[in-house]
Order: sequence, then C-alpha cells, then structure tokens
Amino acid sequence: MKLLVTGGAGFIGPHFIRHVLQKYPTYSVVNVDKLTYAGNLENLRDVEADPRYRFVHGDICEAAAVREAARGVDAILNFAAESHVDRSILGADEFLKTDVVGTFTLLEAARELKIPRYVQVSTDEVYGSIDRGAFRESAPPKPTNPYSATKAGADLLVSAYWTTHRLPVLITRSSNNFGPNQYPEKVIPLFITNALEDRPLPLYGDGKNVRDWLYVVDNCAAIDLVLRAGVPGEIYNIGGGTEVENIVLTRQILRLLGKPESLIQRVTDRPGHDRRYALDCHKIRALGWKPGHDFGAALAETVRWYREHEAWWRPIKSGEFKAYYARQYVDRA
Ligand SMILES: NC(=O)c1ccc[n+]([C@@H]2O[C@H](COP(=O)([O-])OP(=O)(O)OC[C@H]3O[C@@H](n4cnc5c(N)ncnc54)[C@H](O)[C@@H]3O)[C@@H](O)[C@H]2O)c1
Repeated sequence: MKLLVTGGAGFIGPHFIRHVLQKYPTYSVVNVDKLTYAGNLENLRDVEADPRYRFVHGDICEAAAVREAARGVDAILNFAAESHVDRSILGADEFLKTDVVGTFTLLEAARELKIPRYVQVSTDEVYGSIDRGAFRESAPPKPTNPYSATKAGADLLVSAYWTTHRLPVLITRSSNNFGPNQYPEKVIPLFITNALEDRPLPLYGDGKNVRDWLYVVDNCAAIDLVLRAGVPGEIYNIGGGTEVENIVLTRQILRLLGKPESLIQRVTDRPGHDRRYALDCHKIRALGWKPGHDFGAALAETVRWYREHEAWWRPIKSGEFKAYYARQYVDRA
C-alpha cells in the first residue's frame, strides 16, 4: 500500500509514519509538508533513509503539487493543519487556508485521481464543550474558536464529498494528544519545558478545564485501523478515556520533575475557552481499538523524553516560539 501523508513533519504525522513503516514491510509513504513553524524534519531522522519513505516539500493548497504527489497512491491521510487554538485567536488567515482550502484541494485531487481511500484527521474540538456525558459522532459540530471552526468546516466538506461524489472518505476525531516531539506551544510540552527551565507555567483561568488525554501512539494505531477497516462516509471518535483537569495535570508534571508548585502562574483565561471535551468511543472500540497506554505512565515517559531531548526543544524555544510566547502570555499575565 502506498500512502500520501500530509503534514507528516509535525507532531502526530511522524509518529504515524513510523508506525506504518515499522508495522507493514510492504507499505511506502510520501510525506508532503510545507514546513511551517510547526514542521520539523528532525522528527523524522530515523525514517529518512528508509527507501519506502519520501519527503516532498509542498503546500496542500497548491493543486498541481498535490496532484503530482497523489498520483498512484492508495490512500491520502490529511494530518496537515494549522493546529494551535491560541494562534487562531491571534489571527486565523492561515487556518482558513490550510485547514479548509487545503482540505478542499486534497479532496479534489482524490476525486480526480480516483484514490480509493481518504482519511481526514480531525479533532474532538469540532463538537465544542460538553458539561456532562460525551459526544457521539452524530452530534452536530458546534465549534467555538477559529481553529475548531476551520476543522469543522473541513469535516463538513469531507462528508459532502461522500454524499455528493461517493468519494470514499473517513474522518477521525481524536481528543488531545501528547507525547514526544510535540511543539512546545501545546500545554504538556510547554509546561514540561518551562518547568525544566524553572520558568512560570501559565495556567489559564481557574485551571478546571477538562481534557481527555490520548497518547499519540494510541491515536496512530486508531487512525491505521480506520484506514484499513473503517466504513467509507463514517466518522470515528478516538478518545483516551482519561479526563484530567488542567490544574491536576500541571501538578502531576511538576511532581514528575520534582519542581515546586510556586511555578504555577495564573493567567487570564483564553477567550471562548471550552470547559470540557468528552467523546463516546463505541464505534472505534467496535472496530477493535482501545488505548494501549496508561495515562500516568505515558506522561512520565513524555516527561522523560523532554528531559533527555533538550537539543530538540531548546532551539525551538529560542527561535520563532519566543516572539509568539511573549505576545501570547506577557500581554495577558
Ligand atoms: N495535537 C493534537 O492534540 C490533535 C488532536 C486532535 C486532532 N489533531 C489534528 O491532527 C493533525 C495533526 O496535528 P499535529 O498536532 O501533528 O499538528 P502540528 O501543528 O504539530 O503539525 C502540522 C503539520 O502540518 C504542516 N502544514 C501546515 N500547513 C501546511 C500546508 N499548507 N501544507 C502542507 N503542510 C502543512 C506543518 O508544517 C506541520 O508539519 C491536525 O490536523 C490536527 O488538527 C491534533
């Protein structure tokens, strides 16, 4: 099987590429990535010499480049996105381009080239917040910030290509991922690396927002299963089944690093901050998936990875990230 993976130089993409190359000796992967601030070829060092892997520096909004890369593949998996909520609040232009227009461009290529499978990697954030219970796949999207709105827009477009064109599409909606190689703007790597630097951990609002954490490796196994066994036109929720309040998560990280709680710095809440995300995962479980990692153990492993890979995150934090961080937190502290 030949796969086109987009956004494969970000956080989840490299884990997925590694997963398929290790698991399936006959698979090959073309990775199209624009290498935005979030793309990093360091994340793929261990696979780049594999003859079954090829990197293409390209933008999913460019139709000709997409068509060229997609020719002859058996499936497209679209991981490429602008993915950070806080950045979408500062400015949403790139989110509209990549998340919506980019998805459209890929769908058109898939339609024209009659590609047998298209997987859209989406998020639980499209459902919006839920106080009690959990969202099923049939719940209508109710996004609350520009990031989740563009992801929801993309999902609707993907579903429309099934209804209108019978393009064999599948959508995965996972909860918050964590693990090695995640860009340190996201809460877990931000808090781990700030704590390692003895810098404040900027905690939004009352710290009681709840997220259902999913170890990235488990998400990749689920996406692989959906690719192989999912029913075209269907959506699959993928949740870790571990709901944790942000304040509890923060204390857990500090404990793992032996750092004091005095590092916690309360900051003004994110506008429109969703209180709680929760997914009903019966559908993906019926396909035979369940999370394979315990949250506490996976968090400890993630902390260990950042502790041992300063050479990966220090250049990021002293580069592009620095200006973003100053704009995001100093203004609001
Ligand atoms: N990280 C999470 O917790 C999470 C949870 C649910 C869903 N998702 C979804 O999973 C996907 C991957 O998330 P991630 O955390 O790895 O994101 P990421 O931000 O770490 O990586 C995104 C990648 O896409 C690339 N990219 C951006 N614009 C592009 C364009 N126009 N053309 C080609 N490549 C482009 C970037 O260079 C980067 O390598 C996204 O679609 C995201 O919405 C993420």
